[in-house]
This record gives sequence, structure tokens and C-alpha cells, in this order.
Amino acid sequence: MTQAGGFRWQCPSNIALIKYWGKHGNQLPANPSLSITLDTAHTITTLAYKPGSGLRFLFEGKENPAFSSRIEKFLKSLSFEEMPFLKDFELKLESENSFPHSSGIASSASGMGALALCLVSMEEELGLLKGNFMQRASHIARLGSGSACRSVYGNMALWGKTESIPGSSDQYAVVVNDNVNPAFSKIKDSILIISKGKKPVSSTAGHALMDGHAYAESRFTHAKDNLAKLLNVIQTDDWTRFGQIVEQEALSLHAMMMSSATPYLLMEPNTIAVIRAIWEKRAKENWPLYFTLDAGPNVHLLYPESIEKEVEVYINEELVVYCENNYWISDKIGNGPLNLKYGY
Ligand code: PMV
Repeated sequence: MTQAGGFRWQCPSNIALIKYWGKHGNQLPANPSLSITLDTAHTITTLAYKPGSGLRFLFEGKENPAFSSRIEKFLKSLSFEEMPFLKDFELKLESENSFPHSSGIASSASGMGALALCLVSMEEELGLLKGNFMQRASHIARLGSGSACRSVYGNMALWGKTESIPGSSDQYAVVVNDNVNPAFSKIKDSILIISKGKKPVSSTAGHALMDGHAYAESRFTHAKDNLAKLLNVIQTDDWTRFGQIVEQEALSLHAMMMSSATPYLLMEPNTIAVIRAIWEKRAKENWPLYFTLDAGPNVHLLYPESIEKEVEVYINEELVVYCENNYWISDKIGNGPLNLKYGY
């Protein structure tokens, strides 16, 4: 056991196919969710620790008071019960994203994932880790940002108790590997950045609006049904059923926002223009090309790697006009976090 040291982790972002929307207690989900872990969009976080107290946080080499205060609050909450050893150390955290800051890509999943992995590495180094490393990292990531708990696993991850997956839990995510058909092992995700602006309503506020929402109970039941269906579909090569469920999930998420007690819209006119364009293109070309949305205006195009060339030409010729500064990101399903060498 050493009292000073450090760790560096790279953790990817993820995009949910079945959406988590609504929570209770300490970051527990109202319904189970399923996501694909991305490959290119990631955060790298370095943690250095030594005996003492206090925190210094640098984002992309600079002080960032907004991020810093969120992390300070999170670490303080962990130090009460989950990780009391944190009280005895001075921490320095440095974080950077592979995607441009303010690109409209949420960095909380990859950021909290990378931070959780560093903290659990430290816990392990101090001889205090009980149980499985990744399960613990997923649990800690969840406390920072719900969806982050799915980012510590590669490929597909499921968070939330469901009878369909033994060992699933509301406390942490589990990897979904068994019986996934090769048709879904190389999913591409082209992220069209419709707007880089800050969201008018945060996810935290959005989750809160599900409390007492007129459609809350039917949404949670619907998400559970969609999850059970999708878990069956990914064992087949049926991209049509896959796409139907995934698009319905995306639009249901936004329908919840639009029908909440304080209604709001995160889709922009260009989000809708892209959705219509995709539907038209799919009907014309018969491509397995589908979309999903996060809690924001950007559109994730999901399709098999086998049609990558055609879809990229299509994006560049017909869809970039809808993107802010013609910006889009080419990503795909990925293998999960990497433990990078500290000190180099
Ligand atoms: O993890 P949070 O609290 O930022 O919530 C994110 C919820 C969605 O991204 C909209 C859906 C999901 O399951 O990732």
C-alpha cells in the first residue's frame, strides 16, 4: 500500500437505445436502460493523490470553476459513506475530452466514468476495495451521473433491475454480451451536431419533471416492454425491429419533455428536418439507417458498418447542411475504458 500515487483512465461516452428518464432515491432509475458504448468520444482523467486535503481540478489544462464545484460536491458526498478514505488525501484531477468542449456532446457519462475508474483504482491500491472492480466503478459512476454507470463496460451495457438479465441491478450496470447477434456487433454511430449550445433544461431538471408526470407510469412500463423486446431483437439480425424500437424510444423521451408540467422542447427545427430526411432516405434506399436522440437536439445515426461508405457520402452531401458549422462526428460501438499508464 502506497500513500501517494496516481492513475489515468480513458472512459468512453455512451448512447442509450432504451432511455433512462426519471429517477428516485439516490440516483436510482425509474426504469432499466440499455446503451452502446462509443469508441471515439471519450474522456481521459488523471488522478494524483498524496496525504493531505483539498482538491485541484484542471479541465483541458485550465481551471474550470463550474466543473470543479460539481466534482468537489461529488467527492464530498462520496467521502461521507462510500469512500471515507478520500478525507485523508489531497487530490489533483486533470481531465480532457476527445471531442471539442461545447460540441453539444454530453461529457458527464465519459467524465464521471473516468473519474469513478480513477477513484476505484485508488481504493484498490489502498487495499480497501471489496468485490468486483468494474461493478464498483459502475456504482460510483452512477452516483455522479446515472447514465455514466453504463460507460465502464464495452459494447452494450444494461442498467436497472430486469427479469430478462440475471444479475442486473439498479445500483450498477452490467455488460450485455451473451447471444448478441454479429449483426449488432459493429454498429456505427454518426453524431450530427445540430446545435452546440447549452441545453435550456438540464437532465437533472428533466428527470425531476417525471415526478408526478401524467404519463410517467405508462412511460416506465413502455420502456420495460421495449427493453424486453430489444434484448430479443439483438439476438437476431433484424435491423428493422431494432430501428423501430430505438426510434420509438428516442421520440418517447422527447414526448415526455413536451408533455411535462412545464413543457419544453430540446429538438430544433433541424433535428426534425434530419429525422424526416432519414425516413425518406430509408424508404428510398431500403437502408438499415435509424436514429436516436439524447436529451438534446443532436441526432445519432445508427447503422451497420456494412453501409458505412454510402451513409458517409449521404451525410456529407445531404445532411451536413443541417449541422452547426457542418460538424458531425464519426463514431461506433467500442470496447470500453482503457487503463492508461500514469506518469508518462
Ligand atoms: O445521466 P443523466 O442524469 O445525465 O441522464 C441522462 C438520460 C439520457 O441521456 C437522456 C438517457 C440515457 O439513458 O442515457
